[in-house]
Amino acid sequence: MRPNFFHHLHPPTIPAQQSRWRYTLGAGGTAVFLLFVLAITGMLEMFYYTPTPEQAALSVQTISYHVPLGGLVRNTHYWSAQLLMIVMAAHLIRVVMTGAYRSPRRFNYLLGLVLFVAVVLLNFTGYILRWDQGIQWALVVGTNLLKTIPVAGDALYVMLIGGSQPGPATLIRFYAWHIFGLGLLVVILTGWHIFRVRRDGGIAVPPPRLREDDARITRFELVQREVLAMILITAILFILAIFFPAPIDAPIEQLTTMANDASAPWFFLWVQQMLKWGDPFVWGIVVPLVVMLILALIPYVLPQAQDAELGRWFPKSNRLARLVLIGISLLVIVLTLLALLPGS
Ligand code: HEM
Repeated sequence: MRPNFFHHLHPPTIPAQQSRWRYTLGAGGTAVFLLFVLAITGMLEMFYYTPTPEQAALSVQTISYHVPLGGLVRNTHYWSAQLLMIVMAAHLIRVVMTGAYRSPRRFNYLLGLVLFVAVVLLNFTGYILRWDQGIQWALVVGTNLLKTIPVAGDALYVMLIGGSQPGPATLIRFYAWHIFGLGLLVVILTGWHIFRVRRDGGIAVPPPRLREDDARITRFELVQREVLAMILITAILFILAIFFPAPIDAPIEQLTTMANDASAPWFFLWVQQMLKWGDPFVWGIVVPLVVMLILALIPYVLPQAQDAELGRWFPKSNRLARLVLIGISLLVIVLTLLALLPGS
């Protein structure tokens, strides 16, 4: 048989160390599987979803309560998206905490970071598609942040919203971004990212001469582990989808009458909390961009893990990078918890 993309990703044998759950957490592979589930369930939802302000929330209710298996499909789509955010964060943390981002994997680390941003935006645009009362904060306050950008702000706002205020054009634009623009971008970036993993020599482990563990596993054993992981994740998704339905509120009647407790989607609560401190441009745009920039610079400016230390957690030589990531993670977690406090 001619070698194909599958063979490229699954060579006949690989070092056992590269496939240990306790090293990789299986997080990258889980993220790929969740993206696959998202694509399938999203395509099924498209048969019933209507992207107009009057119909959107009602069509989501129809999918949830009236279409046979519609509720299961929608809840699975919703939970795959939320799990993907957590799994992707776990993958980023494992890559930094094991020092795996170092050369020659610096470029792939940057690809991963772009993928991270694209997935967050995919989740955000999907959240807006509900067009129910629960999404008003994101739609009004979130998009108004664009206007605060000096010089280009107003033009960017009109480009995203399709007018001077949210309306029918906005929903169509978010729909197009969600399914076509960002969806396609994420598919291409994911393909490129996993192709690069192999091109860079597979998962980071010490070079053969420094390796203490020479055990190898076959392509067949690797696929067995992957299938086991997929069965486990499918079971978790089904449990979540059956017992915890995805939220859907009443349709938006008047965008100007926003409830006092309106809030951002959970993954932007940390930004919402910072916006209470003052200048929306500084706290809503500059600080998140600086956080991304610091993450992007980690492989380029901080000391890297040494060859012999690869393939395990917490290598001594990349301590500074780990401290930086712990700082950023604590900031995001504490701000999110503050935003969740009653009366905050
Ligand atoms: C949807 C998002 C993502 C997907 C689907 C994905 C997928 C994968 C897969 C399948 C692997 C190989 C298995 C593994 O290491 O667990 C991998 C490795 C890698 N990823 Fe990601 N990834 C994503 C996001 C990220 C992010 C946010 C970063 C970092 C900024 C990143 C950086 C890396 C690096 C450096 C490797 C090589 C790790 C090593 O050699 O040990 N990825 N990714």
